[in-house]
Amino acid sequence: MMLDVRDIHAYYGKSHILQGVSLQVNEGETVTLLGRNGAGKSTTLKTIAGVVAPRGGAIDFSGRTVSGQAAHRIAAAGLCFVPEHRGIFRLLSVEENLRLGARKDSPWQLDDIYRIFPRLKERRKNGGAQLSGGEQQMLAIGRALMNHPRLLMLDEPVEGLAPVIVEEIVEQLRQIRKAGVAIVLVEQNLEVCTQLADRHYIIEQGVIVYTGRNAEFAADHTVKDRYLGVGVV
Ligand SMILES: Nc1ncnc2c1ncn2[C@@H]1O[C@H](COP(=O)(O)OP(=O)(O)OP(=O)(O)O)[C@@H](O)[C@H]1O
Ligand SMILES: [Mg+2]
Repeated sequence: MMLDVRDIHAYYGKSHILQGVSLQVNEGETVTLLGRNGAGKSTTLKTIAGVVAPRGGAIDFSGRTVSGQAAHRIAAAGLCFVPEHRGIFRLLSVEENLRLGARKDSPWQLDDIYRIFPRLKERRKNGGAQLSGGEQQMLAIGRALMNHPRLLMLDEPVEGLAPVIVEEIVEQLRQIRKAGVAIVLVEQNLEVCTQLADRHYIIEQGVIVYTGRNAEFAADHTVKDRYLGVGVV
């Protein structure tokens, strides 16, 4: 098992948000974390990434306990997080943003990122602030790849993007998965989720209430209706 999250709790001030979240990701596996607005999806990713400090529980990554470590150390271990607002430095150029995450041992170097996302090459001298939403997302994914991820966590990577850009990003996530990188994906678009994932988790009010393999989830309209409020189709 690559990532083992056991019974973690997290708070914002006095609000008890994660109330004992447990989830596992195997080597090379793609899992989604689904749930209604405010269910605790982003908080779960932030807590795994070390951005929010867990209180109680444990998080092991590649057999080592990472809970309690600083976010940069967790990223350096190969557990890379692409947050919802993408963390692009607006005053740095595309290329400077990419170089920030670079590690010499990564299979993805600058030229690889430019091959995967040719738009980034065209925009390489542009400032982060001048990018479209889709380009910012490509940059955030590219930067994470240059950091040599063993597991990539993405928070709503295609939210608000035009369908053609969504397709482009989904295709690249598929390639990343093929390269053996495990993925934890938070995404509202169920079609994207069932196209990419091996398995799904659903979180409700800070607790995991469901896990199932992709085929059984895709066929289970009751679970989608009950936990996600998606009408039966
Ligand atoms: N920085 C914060 N300070 C206080 N409360 C917060 C903070 N961030 C989130 N919350 C609250 O924590 C709960 C979980 O939020 P979280 O962002 O994890 O949900 P989510 O499942 O990602 O929702 P969404 O689908 O809207 O992105 C919500 O009730 C939210 O209002
Ligand atoms: Mg969120």
